[in-house]
Amino acid sequence: MGIHELAIESFLALTDEQCEERIIAAKAKLGNRLIILGHHYQREEVFRHADFSGDSLKLSRQAAQSGAEYIVFCGVHFMAEVADILSGPEQKAILPDLAAGCSMADMASLDKVERAWQELSLILDADNQITPVTYINSAANLKAFCGRHGGIVCTSGNARAVLEWALNQREQVLFFPDQHLGRNTGYRMGIPLEQMVVWDFDQPNGGLTAAQIHQAKLILWDGFCSVHQVFQPEHIDRFRAIYPDAKVISHPEASFEVCQKSDEVGSTEYIIKTVNASPPGTRWLIGTELNLVNRLAKIGQAEGKLVHFMSPTICMCSTMFRIDPQHLLWTLENLVAGQVVNQIKVPIEEAQPARVALEQMLAISA
Ligand code: 13P
Ligand code: SF4
Repeated sequence: MGIHELAIESFLALTDEQCEERIIAAKAKLGNRLIILGHHYQREEVFRHADFSGDSLKLSRQAAQSGAEYIVFCGVHFMAEVADILSGPEQKAILPDLAAGCSMADMASLDKVERAWQELSLILDADNQITPVTYINSAANLKAFCGRHGGIVCTSGNARAVLEWALNQREQVLFFPDQHLGRNTGYRMGIPLEQMVVWDFDQPNGGLTAAQIHQAKLILWDGFCSVHQVFQPEHIDRFRAIYPDAKVISHPEASFEVCQKSDEVGSTEYIIKTVNASPPGTRWLIGTELNLVNRLAKIGQAEGKLVHFMSPTICMCSTMFRIDPQHLLWTLENLVAGQVVNQIKVPIEEAQPARVALEQMLAISA
């Protein structure tokens, strides 16, 4: 803790209501030196303070365009890293709670990806035959790996365009960490399931034979989102039996079976746009994080739309939930006092190649 830093402990005792007014006051004091970015999965008491909200793609663009000195990211760790990588050297990316990670991002590490690359290189000419593609939900050093190997980053909002680009560069793709986004996108591009194999990172050669590796178009890392894997095809069947006219929309981190049974599949921003554009009276079943679905239900209510959450059990992203009004206030009041807390700084040797892979993504999804 810095010598003049305000300690978090006294903030944790505050109620959400006590935080509310002080957050507004601190924001006013910081003026245009500050921008707060809020992901759609943020809880309402935090989300309402965001200057810009969006999915990962929209927020990374926002971070790249913002001239603010402080970019406070109400989201998870990899998002704040992207904000740091894409912003200028004098800007500071800040994550109000450092424990706000992403369990899916943690399923791929540089060690494991480098080992996979070496193993693949013994079977084929990986550098000339495979484009590495990392989902934005990954550590900065994996984005750097992609930048160094002629690869690219994707989000759920541009995965198809990115995979088309990647397969134009080389014949095959190593896609990490989310197998579901890879498979759901590949299938919609017309790649047969047999040409998408799963790389089990705990097994030699990913648990695959050389023949399986040679014939694969997409080699999918065995990672997943524990929030989105809760949704099951039976949830859709049961709902449709009661409401045959209802529409179903899912995030592509949900399983192949769930996405196949959905009318629409897309990023959080796409889900919002699609539900907002539907006529009054439409009933929706939505397969994505609860905070977003609750927000859509509230907005929908006023417009005569009925919005249901796909799972019968509550499943929230516990790491997104780490960002609470208390941590946001602590961050902002420290900034007012001239103290930068929880800055996310990607080392330059990682940030440079990671930026190459991110800028390639932004260029093709403009
Ligand atoms: P979006 O880019 O669609 O907002 O998704 C981010 C995420 O983490 C979904 O789990
Ligand atoms: Fe990561 Fe899943 Fe949370 Fe998204 S919802 S941040 S993928 S754990």
